[in-house]
Amino acid sequence: MKIINETILIIDYGSQYTQLIARKIREQNVYCEVYPYNKISSSILNNKDLSGIILSGGPNSVKDKKSPKLNKKILELKIPILGICYGLQLLCKEFGGNIGQSSSREYGHSLITRKNKSKLLDGVKKKSQVWMSHGDHIEKAPKDFTITSFSNNRVISSIEDKRSKIYGLQFHPEVYHSLDGLKILSNFLLKICKITKKFKLDDFLNNKINELKNNLKNKKVICGLSGGVDSTVTSFLLHKAIKHNLYCIFVDHGLLRFNESNEVVSIFKKKFGKNFIRIDASKIFLSNLKNIKDPEEKRKIIGKTFIKVFEKEAKKIKKVEYLAQGTLYPDIIESIPFFGGPTAKIKSHHNVGGLPKKINLKIVEPLKELFKDEVRLLGKKLNISPDLLSRHPFPGPGLSIRIPGEIDRKKINILQRVDNLFITYLKENNIYKKIWQAFAILLPIKSVGVMGDERTYNYCVVIRAVTSVDGMTADFYMFSKKNITEISKKIISNVKEVNRVLYDFTSKPPGTIEWE
Ligand code: XMP
Repeated sequence: MKIINETILIIDYGSQYTQLIARKIREQNVYCEVYPYNKISSSILNNKDLSGIILSGGPNSVKDKKSPKLNKKILELKIPILGICYGLQLLCKEFGGNIGQSSSREYGHSLITRKNKSKLLDGVKKKSQVWMSHGDHIEKAPKDFTITSFSNNRVISSIEDKRSKIYGLQFHPEVYHSLDGLKILSNFLLKICKITKKFKLDDFLNNKINELKNNLKNKKVICGLSGGVDSTVTSFLLHKAIKHNLYCIFVDHGLLRFNESNEVVSIFKKKFGKNFIRIDASKIFLSNLKNIKDPEEKRKIIGKTFIKVFEKEAKKIKKVEYLAQGTLYPDIIESIPFFGGPTAKIKSHHNVGGLPKKINLKIVEPLKELFKDEVRLLGKKLNISPDLLSRHPFPGPGLSIRIPGEIDRKKINILQRVDNLFITYLKENNIYKKIWQAFAILLPIKSVGVMGDERTYNYCVVIRAVTSVDGMTADFYMFSKKNITEISKKIISNVKEVNRVLYDFTSKPPGTIEWE
């Protein structure tokens, strides 16, 4: 079954911006896939729908013997190729140009000046602001290539060979600071690759439903449902395709937000009836977490307990063959080890992703081609309520990682009430949707205060609100003095166990979004 028509292949050479290239292309409703340079199989290259290739930037120097090489098979395809930064340098070297090594990197804003006619730069201003991040540069362009722009310090910033449809940019068009970047990518996609059939979510939805119907036939599928966007959309989509053969298991670990468990039950029971199974596992989770202080230990215990509880319930449903997961495209890109190993582990993420090996089921991941914003749009098409779709992300380990140190029911209950007051305030004041994620943290310390004429000695809470595109980096949200005063007042006057409210104004990096 064919779901997608014209496709752009992005070959990743390790740039921190590769995912951004993919997002910018998808934003123009063109389908694309990312693969690391050392995982390009012939089936990827033989895809008849391949309309163009983009070579990403990367941290290496083409002058190093051990640096990643150009896959020459891509040249045989005779389809348009665009090299960005390292990608450009690979192409330049391949066609006989010279690459120079500089002692210092050119990093940040730069101004390019256009030269000669260029289809790629069509509509770009004569002088245009771009974002540079490179050490090496082109000293001499290959013979058949035209130089189409220079940067302020006379570095060749773009070249092309119209006849062989090969284009290269020294700067990063995918980065927001390249003001004509989207125009350049659009020229490549529409004018050079001549993409005509755009990627439409309606087509994706219909084709995906048919594909699931055909592949799953009348087999039983279980799905771990948390009420978050990804698992909700996964379950609605599967339900549309296989109806009563879908079983959704909701594990309540007792670390959810205020009233969240009841809300999830009422929404999904209505939708899935007896095929929605809620497990109240709070006792076992809290007992396993008793006296545990270390953040990583907490995460691991929760992950393991989750698997056990889920496995036990799944076994009660007879003859299940598939496990559905709400994996998204960024999860796929990030899970491919690059340059021989994954990047430094900051936190052990606990997702249902840990289940398959243990549980011996085939995996179905209906959203694995999509980005988060596309999943939200798909959810809208599946008539999922906007309230569910616009919910802030919530981590698998729940409130346990928002209570530094030991956890107990009393602390969880305090935090749930504080968090609920904060989030309700944001919703009532139309701030909620401007924020990627907002929540409260309960600190394991008490401080002295005064209320009325009385001394108090109560807990401190922190409120955290960040803006972000994908959670990988984040900025703290700047509340007005009025808002922050009202939030603080609301919390202290309604939650008697708390007498101090702090605001976390740390961005990511250096902080992470969650506290543990
Ligand atoms: P950090 O704290 O790493 O969080 O900056 C980035 C985003 O990921 C969420 N998060 C998790 N999500 N399982 C999840 O499903 C987890 O274990 C987990 N830990 C963090 C976090 O809420 C933020 O949106």
